Amino acid sequence: MRSGRKAAGRQARRPAAAADPAASDEGEEARMDEPEWRRFVAAYHHAHPGITERLFALADASPYAWLAEPLRDAPGVVLDLACGSAPVRAELPNADWVGIDLSAAELAEASRRGRGPLVRADAGALPVASGRAGAVCAAMCLPVVTPLPRVLGEIGRVLRPGGTLAALVPSQTGLSPSGMLSWVRVMAALRAVRQPWPNPRARDGLAGLLCSAGFRVRSDERRVFRLAVGSADDAQLLAGALYLPALTPRRAEAARRSLARWAVRGRHLELPLRRVVADLPTGRPSQEPT
Ligand SMILES: C[S@@+](CC[C@H](N)C(=O)[O-])C[C@H]1O[C@@H](n2cnc3c(N)ncnc32)[C@H](O)[C@@H]1O
Repeated sequence: MRSGRKAAGRQARRPAAAADPAASDEGEEARMDEPEWRRFVAAYHHAHPGITERLFALADASPYAWLAEPLRDAPGVVLDLACGSAPVRAELPNADWVGIDLSAAELAEASRRGRGPLVRADAGALPVASGRAGAVCAAMCLPVVTPLPRVLGEIGRVLRPGGTLAALVPSQTGLSPSGMLSWVRVMAALRAVRQPWPNPRARDGLAGLLCSAGFRVRSDERRVFRLAVGSADDAQLLAGALYLPALTPRRAEAARRSLARWAVRGRHLELPLRRVVADLPTGRPSQEPT
């Protein structure tokens, strides 16, 4: 296990870039540099362990069950990369599963929920022997983890030839006109345009990135989930669940109040997600860590 990184919630140099399914990659210039981003993500997950799982619990169907489908019969070890509170563990109860995350708070939340085994490690330096994993699961993490080329290299190294990667990422397409308006409402309350993902291409462009990294893409599908945001508690969860480094406590409080008024019974928010399933070709020479 690695020692904890210093968590510091420094402000982004520019206002929150955004995040939402409605925003385009154009104008992503407001992204933070890598050390700033890593500090922000560490502090965010320290303060909000299990937040992604709690947000997804509002969905009309489980995105984690959808992600786990292609891994149900995967032979060998299933490595859950950046597992957070480890919601995928519950979807693969019979798997030889290991969860890895850099956040001690997320791993503590996973442990509190009875999920394991868990290892604290960086996705860019996995403490796993080459070719050891039969499958890698990556739920909502590839747009977040840095540096992405190193992380993809590590996934390719730890997978056995023929092994499977299943990734779940946000999608920017698929919103209905009213779904788009709802996101505009939410982001306006937060005074944000988009989330400043460090790897914006690892959303709708993920299949292309994986091909370039030597994987063979088996499927690339989008599915639009619906989050039920029908109470002030749901609104509070939503307001806290986005990566918005420039959100001040005062603005966050104002957004919570505004969204609590909007979150009436029957209110839904569309959430387009993308599932990409790729295999590591057989015959590829095994890779050593760089
Ligand atoms: C959006 S959350 C997703 C958590 C979980 N997979 C889920 O879907 O509920 C992103 C996760 O990535 C983890 N993370 C970020 N950077 C990481 C890194 N370099 N190595 C390992 N985990 C990392 C965070 O601690 C957090 O748990």
